Amino acid sequence: MKILVTGGAGFIGSHTVVELVNAGYEPVIIDNFSNSETSVLDGLRQILGREVICYSEDCNNADALHRIFRDEQIEGVIHFAAYKAVGESVEQPLKYYRNNLDSTMLLLETMQQYGVRNFVFSSSCTVYGQPDQLPVTEATPRKPAQSPYGNTKAICEDIIRDTVAAKAPIRAVALRYFNPIGAHPSGLIGELPLGVPSNLVPFITQAAAGMREKITIFGSDYNTPDGTCIRDYIHVVDLARAHVQALRLLDRQEADSFYDIFNVGTGNGNTVLELIKTFEEVNNLKLNYAIGPRRAGDVEQIYAQVDKVNNVMGWKAELTAADSLRDAWRWQQNLIKK
Ligand code: WQD
Repeated sequence: MKILVTGGAGFIGSHTVVELVNAGYEPVIIDNFSNSETSVLDGLRQILGREVICYSEDCNNADALHRIFRDEQIEGVIHFAAYKAVGESVEQPLKYYRNNLDSTMLLLETMQQYGVRNFVFSSSCTVYGQPDQLPVTEATPRKPAQSPYGNTKAICEDIIRDTVAAKAPIRAVALRYFNPIGAHPSGLIGELPLGVPSNLVPFITQAAAGMREKITIFGSDYNTPDGTCIRDYIHVVDLARAHVQALRLLDRQEADSFYDIFNVGTGNGNTVLELIKTFEEVNNLKLNYAIGPRRAGDVEQIYAQVDKVNNVMGWKAELTAADSLRDAWRWQQNLIKK
């Protein structure tokens, strides 16, 4: 079964391509390489021992989409392609609304034209903002987004919900990711941040590699055990496997129209300092870090309640933060050798 993977050369997309092949699916990548590199295709070829079909196109290009749906007999779509830099979205909101919303609407329209039913959408826990209660469940009310990036995720969820409610023959799930970290254990694919990483783990690995002078911990005066923020860090391979389970859930649906939302996390929270200490322990090295001021927009703590994804979708995180940090370091070391 051919599955169109938009943004399939990206961090989560590329790891999902591996798990799709492992599960017997045939991924078809569409990626404009605006935030990924073609070297990812080399890594996929080495891991899989085969080529993966890849269209170097923008999924906002209607003609390209029509060509792909016509020529490849697509039977499902996993939609990763989106701009995702929180800070940049504040500076350039229209770029984010135009790209992230248009691509989702165009994909849904094209799916309807070609009778493609199954749609997995990459959403984010950012739609919860700072939740009033923890852990967050899928019933926890969304809060006004902290950034245009986060707002595009909430709006896309509503676009999908309303399209399905209008009885479009679409079966969809929105996966609300918590914090994806780590890399494929082969060390052949992983996170490729452009420029200075804004996310914690790629900054840690670059600091460990001597590429950054020190790690600044954004605030140590939060109401948490050690004063630093808490997140639910999920291994990217576990997250990739959740997408395979989501497709299987959609394949089991009898109804033509279906929509549901799942938190995809470990169900555990770790502080920034805990992550730094774990990285040092599992990789047997010392990191240089200092406490700095809070970062605007950061929520104090968020982690998932995962009963629904465990019981309804039959998926559970199996890898630990230690696994993620070991795999992230191996990937960083391979990057240095390139
Ligand atoms: C994690 C923690 C920082 C860097 C964002 C998006 C989310 C998703 C993942 C796209 C926070 C602290 C970080 C540093 C630090 N994005 N930190 N020093 O902000 O939880 O989530 O990225 O899909 O939607 O919102 O992730 O890794 O940036 O930060 O202390 O140099 O690490 O303050 O507490 P975040 P993050």
